[in-house]
Amino acid sequence: MLDTDELKNDFPIFSHIKDLVYLDSGATSLKPRQVIAKENEYYHKYSANIFRGIYKISEKATAEYEAVRGKVAHFIGAKNSREIVFVRNATEAVNLVAAGIGKTLKPGDEIIVSIMEHHSNFVPWQQRSLKKNANFKIWNTGRDYMLNLLELEKLMSSRTRLVAITAVSNVLGTINPIKKLVATIKKRIPESLVLIDGAQAVPHMKVDIEDLGCDFYVFSSHKMLGPTGVGVLWGRYELLHEMHPYQYGGDMIQAVYIDHTDFKDTPHKFEAGTPHIAGVIGLGAAIDYLKDLGMENVRRHEIELTTYAFEKLKLINGITIYGPTQMEDRGGVISFTIEKIHAHDIAQILDSRNICIRAGHHCAMPLHLSLNLVSTARASFYVYSTEKDVDALVEGLKFVQKTFS
Ligand SMILES: Cc1ncc(COP(=O)(O)O)c(C=O)c1O
Repeated sequence: MLDTDELKNDFPIFSHIKDLVYLDSGATSLKPRQVIAKENEYYHKYSANIFRGIYKISEKATAEYEAVRGKVAHFIGAKNSREIVFVRNATEAVNLVAAGIGKTLKPGDEIIVSIMEHHSNFVPWQQRSLKKNANFKIWNTGRDYMLNLLELEKLMSSRTRLVAITAVSNVLGTINPIKKLVATIKKRIPESLVLIDGAQAVPHMKVDIEDLGCDFYVFSSHKMLGPTGVGVLWGRYELLHEMHPYQYGGDMIQAVYIDHTDFKDTPHKFEAGTPHIAGVIGLGAAIDYLKDLGMENVRRHEIELTTYAFEKLKLINGITIYGPTQMEDRGGVISFTIEKIHAHDIAQILDSRNICIRAGHHCAMPLHLSLNLVSTARASFYVYSTEKDVDALVEGLKFVQKTFS
């Protein structure tokens, strides 16, 4: 069990805004003082560039930065830290792969994405497909808000080059059975690549990449207690080794001549220019923090809190909650609508009580369109979220209804 009351003390924002009810962790998580301190440590004690300086503080910064690569690899069960590429966010990680794979796409090849993808795992594939005259296919959910394997079987063909799926929907909360899905895809078309968007999974549950059998996996530091501006791409070594660099410049080269350049191997050939050194070092502290809590405890806390929230929210007149009803099938994200009240009005009135939720399409417009919705309101939880926060939300929603009655 997580001691959330105790835990809240680690998050300085709660001492600055005493009555803050933060229910937008799906957008970005709050940061504990340990992460902020680690980032500051870099700026205070060894603020030098990495890989370049032949002096102690640069070597220290390089060692700290590279140690996090190992930490990330271990955290997600990757065998080789060369398979961990630091980028700006999950979005950039998808774009990096789309650029690499895109080079080899031929007219008539197929890319399949699920309808529940965040725009960051939708638009890059849509745009590559348009550019290359490839078929961009959409894998719909069933009435239970889950992806249906039979539907996928119908979509796949010998031309399927890549399937991109989110591990956890940022709107529906659906936890997709990734291992099973990947196995089905690989059995049917062994050459097909699978990219998993783990932006809403890695922060919330134990992830073992080798066990999943996918080819690429992406996520963001800022949703897992870490700094903004850092994302992670994991890819199979052979694939990353073969893939062309995404950007060109300093630090990703072996040697530069007038007529050509020899590039470093992965991961450095994908990390052109000075990276977000402090951010990566801060991500290391976020991983330490999550490991100390235990990912099983993090997940259990979210199941308990989501169950509690479901029970309370269900009682509100005119509410519709989207997503699976079994708690084991969903993460700590609850999207809902309330009859006759626009989601933006809900969010704005809640804000007058210092309750933060998200309203809109949550960067998943195709999913909203498929559900005939313009927008939803979304409450999302994390390690510091409590039943008291849920109670405040429920009272806040009653107040919203009274305002509109
Ligand atoms: C499921 C999912 N994928 C991808 C992203 C994009 O993350 P980022 O903005 O950090 O690139 C998000 C962000 O909300 C998300 O929820």
